[in-house]
Amino acid sequence: MEIPEEQRENWGTRGGFVLAAVGSAVGLGNLWGFPYKLYSYGGGAFLIPYILAMFCIGIPMLILEFSLGHMTQRAAPDAFGRANKRLEFVGWWGIILGFVIVTYYPVILAYCFSFIYYSIESIVTGKSLPWAGEGIQGVENAKIFFNETYLGLKEGVETGQIRTNILIPLVIAWIAMYFCIFKGVKLVGKIVWLTVPLPFIMLIVLTIRGLTLEGSMKGLVYYLDPVWSELSKPTTWRFAFGQVFFSLSLAFGVMVTYASFLHRKSDINNNAAIIGISDFATSFVAGIAIFATLGGMSYATMQAGNSVEVKDVVAGGPGLTFVAFPYALAQLPAAAWWSLVFFFTLVTLGIDSAFSITESVLAGIVDKTGWKRCIVLPVMSLVGLVFGLIYVTEGGLNWLGTIDAFINGTWGIAFLGLLECVVLGWLYRLDTLRHHANERSDWHSGRWWNFAIRIFIPIVLGTLFLWSLFDDVTNAEGFIKTPSGEWIVPNCVGLIVVGISPIIAILMSLIKSPLRTGQGKQAEFKYPTHAEAGGIGTTSFLLSVIGLLLVIWVLYFGKENLVLIPLFFGIAGIVISYYVLEKHDVGDEKPSLLSRWAGIISTLDISVAISIILIGMTNKINEKEIVYRTADKLSGVSYVILGVVVLIIVGGLGWCFYRAITLASKDQEPEAVDDDLQID
Ligand code: PHE
Repeated sequence: MEIPEEQRENWGTRGGFVLAAVGSAVGLGNLWGFPYKLYSYGGGAFLIPYILAMFCIGIPMLILEFSLGHMTQRAAPDAFGRANKRLEFVGWWGIILGFVIVTYYPVILAYCFSFIYYSIESIVTGKSLPWAGEGIQGVENAKIFFNETYLGLKEGVETGQIRTNILIPLVIAWIAMYFCIFKGVKLVGKIVWLTVPLPFIMLIVLTIRGLTLEGSMKGLVYYLDPVWSELSKPTTWRFAFGQVFFSLSLAFGVMVTYASFLHRKSDINNNAAIIGISDFATSFVAGIAIFATLGGMSYATMQAGNSVEVKDVVAGGPGLTFVAFPYALAQLPAAAWWSLVFFFTLVTLGIDSAFSITESVLAGIVDKTGWKRCIVLPVMSLVGLVFGLIYVTEGGLNWLGTIDAFINGTWGIAFLGLLECVVLGWLYRLDTLRHHANERSDWHSGRWWNFAIRIFIPIVLGTLFLWSLFDDVTNAEGFIKTPSGEWIVPNCVGLIVVGISPIIAILMSLIKSPLRTGQGKQAEFKYPTHAEAGGIGTTSFLLSVIGLLLVIWVLYFGKENLVLIPLFFGIAGIVISYYVLEKHDVGDEKPSLLSRWAGIISTLDISVAISIILIGMTNKINEKEIVYRTADKLSGVSYVILGVVVLIIVGGLGWCFYRAITLASKDQEPEAVDDDLQID
């Protein structure tokens, strides 16, 4: 089905869109999230779940979001609404969680601005960096500088005063974001030609500099030497899958919105692959830069007689970026200059991710209400800034960490991604989207894509979600109350935010849009109204319901050893309903509603069953322990891993560009789609 072209602004060029999407995907998550997670969860071994997740979940979901946005030419809420009126709230839900992110993401940019300031100050005055210090004492100094001097963190203080030293750079960050997007996506399409290549170049510079330091190999050992046993820990898989999601900016409506501004004839599948692989490449290289430098630091401190090992400084999240790395740089020659380069890289990495979220919230509101961008944007920025004030208080970083864990952990994002796949996969004619993407793409996705969206991704995400839920609920240390009965306020707030966002989303979707009756109408998709696929759909429904009842019974009565029975029913239900949909959701046929719901219920049933099995396994394993690798040289296996990763990145990107270029040089439309999916 082709939707009439609407007057919608667009990116101008294919490059503009690809760069903007890469800009959104490649962000702080690549530099502070990925290297740390790789290091903590098995080094090179972590790459197996990560690459699997990237190719089996990340890229298929990017294709899903791109086709939805592109086909409907609408930001997320309206895009879902056009697929099916009742689904609009899914889009709003993502937008609301995205808005929560945009209240704190710029705060991290603000930290970077401050560190840029300190670096410049040190260059100008010729004094050493304010956190500099020697040996283990230096590590302490860096910690004290960040936590106490800069953040003003105090034991037992929940919020405390607003810190003007963070507020000022925060305002600067918002102003910068404002000017990047105030003119619309055409300008964004130009700005990203600067904000995307620049951090890449600087990352390469940082990597070369790291690798040429004496002792860098020892750092890489920490990063790459595989600890295979980590693969048997479900947490490793949980982090790998979660990281792919966050890193590709999936489920917040960003990619839907960006694709809605894409020119009608643009490629979708190939762009998704290019964006996914580039994001992975950036993360991987960022890790090399960081660990090579930490290796160099370790060597330098050893030479100076006050040895600090890589493992002594590595800490997750802000710790790595604002404590360990600044410390490592301070140990090396020309420290202030390198610190300037590093934090500037972070700003350029993060700013396009930050404004991509603002843009998606903005486009959601503008598409719904028809209000003017030039009014909505400043108001929204101000509201974002005001909500952000909580993170610039003395207790701000704790708040930031907690809220981030709620949104990006499996509570917010995984659930939403799951919902997205389930509703589009089972309640909507998924082939419409696949067909739409294939029609204009350099290569075509086969039926494996349907399988990924309908079955694989929902079950994986459903399992992640339920498993975290069980984990959190059964956590002995208490989740919203400490064992001594005190409320854990940030957790409560996080829970409330996650809890009320669907309610607000539903309310938003109920508001009548003045635009709906006009131009929006022509793009409503109509289903055929006759021809039901009967009996076998009902069978699958019965199987799935029995499976669900059984799994609830297993859960309630603690009969974990019988969990395979509901699992079996679930699998039977999902196989049959999948078959019905593949067979009968074509042409003017229409599968029964029962067979559609059978798929959804079976997904739930299977996910609960698998998470029960996983919970049983995690209890037996000590999750927190990190196995340290201390060899002096990279092992042979690590070189093999390095080779494979380079092959995947270079080969993957090479192939994508080859497809794009050969097609462009032949100056032809992509070949006709030769499957049986002609719709309407
Ligand atoms: N992908 C970005 C990063 O890796 C973060 C982001 C999440 C951006 C969600 C937009 C939406 O930092």
